[in-house]
Amino acid sequence: MIKGGNRLEGSVSVSGAKNSALKLMAAAILGDNKSILQGVPKIRDVFTMIEVLNRLGIKAEFKKEDQLVIDPSGNISCEASYDLISQMRASIVVLGPLLAKLGEARVAMPGGCNIGSRKIDLHLRGFELLGAQIDMGQGYIQAKADILVGATVTLAFPSVGATENLMMAAVKAKGITVIENAAREPEIIDLANFLNSMGADIEGAGTSSIKVQGVAALKGIKYQVIPDRIEAGTFLIAGAISRGDIIVKNACPEHLEMVLGKLRDSGFDIKEQDTGVRIIADKRAKAVDIATLPYPGFPTDLQAQMMALLSLADGTSVITENIFENRFVFVSEINKMGSNIRTQGQHAVIEGAERIKGACVRCPDLRAGAGLILAGLAAKGTTEVEEIGHVERGYENFEQKLSRLGADIQRVPEEMTEVAQSASECVGRSEKKG
Ligand code: EPU
Repeated sequence: MIKGGNRLEGSVSVSGAKNSALKLMAAAILGDNKSILQGVPKIRDVFTMIEVLNRLGIKAEFKKEDQLVIDPSGNISCEASYDLISQMRASIVVLGPLLAKLGEARVAMPGGCNIGSRKIDLHLRGFELLGAQIDMGQGYIQAKADILVGATVTLAFPSVGATENLMMAAVKAKGITVIENAAREPEIIDLANFLNSMGADIEGAGTSSIKVQGVAALKGIKYQVIPDRIEAGTFLIAGAISRGDIIVKNACPEHLEMVLGKLRDSGFDIKEQDTGVRIIADKRAKAVDIATLPYPGFPTDLQAQMMALLSLADGTSVITENIFENRFVFVSEINKMGSNIRTQGQHAVIEGAERIKGACVRCPDLRAGAGLILAGLAAKGTTEVEEIGHVERGYENFEQKLSRLGADIQRVPEEMTEVAQSASECVGRSEKKG
């Protein structure tokens, strides 16, 4: 429940990157002994990945604060079951390390999700080129290889997950693997740095050509996860939409170049500091056009938050979503708050409104949920955001962090929400009617 209108001020610290931590957790499977990951956010997706590892027979637990200890030295099973994969699609990244370590992996078919169909054909084709035999049937993918042999894999699209899965499969393969048209996200560099510190030999991460020379063994290590660039971007947009002045500590400006550029184009003062990034916002945003693209393009994971900001901009903006086909489901929710956004295919036209008003809205997915919360910060009156479980998947202590910056936001038990109350009124009315 958010009462809009407060100006956010002060500083906020960004947690470790979800989309890096999840892959480092999978990569730790490749070590001969335990790894310690520092800066792992305590979010729902991380707890799901802990459960995935535990069920594979790998001990994974938080020791102190944000240190996650993963010990892959016991007997490991090669099978990840459907109930976990269906909770979190990212658990598909255990396929590569299991195949490399055990020569076999059986993982439930992840299927689509709220934001799109999310195929994994590029992962599977890459494994095949490394010599794995892939069998699909009864909702499972089975990958088997007596020995993986390095090969050149050219990805038809720079998929983040396929690049990561292939890098992890290739680190112990015989000979050299080259991944062409690889994804270039900072999380790919983080994964390569982690694997190299474990003893792998990877060159070129962060460019579109990654070379992996197979090695015999990897050892567990201690490693610090990079800061979450999407969380950082979300707070910067929160500063902008609330016309605030906030410092986002630990934010890496070099991971956010396109986002900072678009915020500057919308008229905001952005200062890159040694400790993070500051945004000073005292006026309405100017309209800007945005196209989501693989890194270093504008991240799809900040598209909804930016759309919330532009729904209050002076002028008309166009957002083109090039990565996931269902990310505009957000539009019908934010339009309930008085935004004026219409979509056509992968384009959204946003006529900036002078104000939006609080409403009862529902999170369709993680990033859209964050976008709705940001809209609530700027809306007149009270906004009730339902199904915030999606937001808890990826943001650590989101409402506490916003509240410390001055937002009027609180978590409300479900039975006290407007939806629940109007439902009970309906029941009451129908009971009276008999
Ligand atoms: N694709 C294929 N075939 C494949 C793989 C991908 O067609 O084999 C398509 C997908 O359907 C999609 C596009 O390629 O349309 C991009 O998919 P990609 O593989 O790059 O994304 P991902 O690895 O599934 C990660 C993040 C997403 C983020 C995207 C893009 C994790 C756990 N997830 O997903 O994060 O949006 O990269 O940057 O790292 C989020 O955090 O909210 C989130 C969805």
